[in-house]
Formats: sequence, structure tokens, C-alpha cells
Amino acid sequence: MSASQLVIALPKGALYDETAERLRRAGIGVPADVGRMLKVTADDGRTQLLVLRSSDVPAYVEFGAADCGIVGKDTLWETDRSVSELADLGFGECRLVVAARRSDGYHEGARYPTFLRVATKFTRSAQAYFAERDVPCEIIALHGSVELAPIAGIADAIVDLVATGNTLKAHDMVVVDEIARSTARFVVNPVRFRAKYEALTALLDRLTGA
Ligand code: PRP
Repeated sequence: MSASQLVIALPKGALYDETAERLRRAGIGVPADVGRMLKVTADDGRTQLLVLRSSDVPAYVEFGAADCGIVGKDTLWETDRSVSELADLGFGECRLVVAARRSDGYHEGARYPTFLRVATKFTRSAQAYFAERDVPCEIIALHGSVELAPIAGIADAIVDLVATGNTLKAHDMVVVDEIARSTARFVVNPVRFRAKYEALTALLDRLTGA
């Protein structure tokens, strides 16, 4: 593959549509729906796209299967993979929050139980947040549908992403505290960045409108 040809890792899920739209505006025609395809060629006939679970994007970039990728900052908080974050692309904004059932009143100052049980996909961020505040807690690692955990009685609170707030509302839950804000980031493999400097900076400029 020549230095001008790029392999880009894209996240499935919430960030996919906006990612595809940004790439289209940057001149790389990405299919609106890749169906079951995990590897596709963009309509420039050159750029390869890997369509991955968001949490797998950093691994594909670190190990060089992709030269660069687009991924939520929330994913980067949780990963050990080493990638270089070059730009905040500004879209896909969401908040990582502590949330709980409205009826428990934690959002109005009610005290947490002595040993708080926290369900989350974001175990590292949750652990750090409660450790900083000296709140003893057990982190219950789940892979999705985390809002169910307090309702089903396996957790007192959750740490999860909130975008519109509709999912919390639908479960009669409220934000207790905001931990951080996340947006989509452009990441690169540092070695590939040197080897494909021109192609990667040109893509970055087009993605950021520079
Ligand atoms: C995310 C997040 C919340 C929801 C928040 O879940 O974990 O459940 O979106 O969005 P909202 O504030 O706009 O309602 P996702 O849909 O990615 O699925 P998951 O439950 O499998 O994590």
C-alpha cells in the first residue's frame, strides 16, 4: 500500500452516521449502511475503511491495521491502547455522568449507602471518580443497558453516557453528577503518522475544515 493510501477505522453505533457524513464532506465516500461488511473500500477506490465496535478502534490503530481512526473520547478514557489523539472533531457530544433513581434522592443530597454499588461500562472512569471522592464502592462491570441495573436492584447508581437524556428519563432516573464531556476524536498510529504524514495531515485538515 502506498503512503498516500489510508486505512481508517470507523466506529459503529452512535458515532457512525456523523463520522460517515464528515468523511463524505472530506471527499471520502463512505456507504450510509455497510450492512454486515466489516471492511469496505470507499468510493475513491483507494481508502480502506474498517467498521468496528467503537471500543475496538484504538487496538486496530495501535497495532497498525488502521493508520488512523475516529473514536469517542469516552472510549479513549477506558483504553490502555496507545494511540495519538490529534484533534477534537466536535461532534458526538455526550456527558459521562453518575445517575440514579429519582426516588433515591441522591441528586438532592441524600447520602449514598455506606458501600455503594455502581453499574457501568466505564469501569476505569467510575473507579477514578469515586476513589477521588473517597466513596467506598463496588464497580459492577456491564456491557450495555446499564439503566436496568438500579431498577433490577443490582446497583445503587450507574456511570453512563447521556446524550439526549431520554434513556434516563424513560427509566425515571436523574443525573447526580457530571464526570466529563466526550466528543469524537481523530486518532493516529504514531509510526504511521510519520510514514504517511502528508496523507494523514491532508485528511485531518479536511475533517476539521482547516
Ligand atoms: C448509550 C448510553 C445510554 C444512552 C444515552 O447507550 O449508554 O444508555 O446511549 O443516550 P440518550 O441520553 O440520548 O438517551 P447505547 O445506545 O450506546 O447502548 P448500550 O445501552 O448498549 O450502551
